[in-house]
Amino acid sequence: MNFKAIIFDLDGVICSTDEYHYQAWKKMADSMGIYFDRTINNRLRGVSRMESLEIILERYQGQPLSDAKKEELATMKNDIYRESLHQMSTADLSDEVRDTLNALRAKGLRLAIGSSSKNTPFILKRLGLENFFDAVSDGNNITRSKPDPEVFLKAAQFVDMEPADCLVVEDAVSGAQAGHAGGFQVACVGDASAAGAGDFNLKSFGQLLELV
Ligand code: BG6
Ligand code: MG
Repeated sequence: MNFKAIIFDLDGVICSTDEYHYQAWKKMADSMGIYFDRTINNRLRGVSRMESLEIILERYQGQPLSDAKKEELATMKNDIYRESLHQMSTADLSDEVRDTLNALRAKGLRLAIGSSSKNTPFILKRLGLENFFDAVSDGNNITRSKPDPEVFLKAAQFVDMEPADCLVVEDAVSGAQAGHAGGFQVACVGDASAAGAGDFNLKSFGQLLELV
């Protein structure tokens, strides 16, 4: 395939922060007596913080919550999540991801991030990747989260490429939908790969090297 750029989702693709998201939401849900499990969690992949909260609240059986209370719950989750992020280091970047990124860079591809997360700059710093990517498009520069294609279209713009020249890499079904909605081809790993959501459904991150 003749891709000139690759746009990577962050959580669940470059690093395993998806597990930290799950653990933090689980604590928040438990504190409110709301049922929450890993199947529901898969619906939160790629989805913004406040939209994720609304999905969890589908199971809430109490009185309607005010916007202020919802903000408080989202902040509770983010505080727990940030606590886990503080424990991350460059050791949380797997050899497979590091080697694959370097090999893709050596092939002359432009590499960008396309993540819904507002914590993206902090996570990249923890991983030692703050200066690695040619561009970062994240939850801080978008108004609509996946499955809307905005975050990927901005990433393509930032590296000066057309969607047709870029490959999107995702672990979320909503992210694969966002890629397709923007006119990108999509390679999936993890949950989205298992769901068959991509044009390429990979068994490992390293398999990306077979596509470019
Ligand atoms: C996405 C995650 O990358 O970022 C979602 O897959 C998360 O689970 C979203 O809700 C927003 O993240 P944050 O860090 O801004 O709360
Ligand atoms: Mg993800």
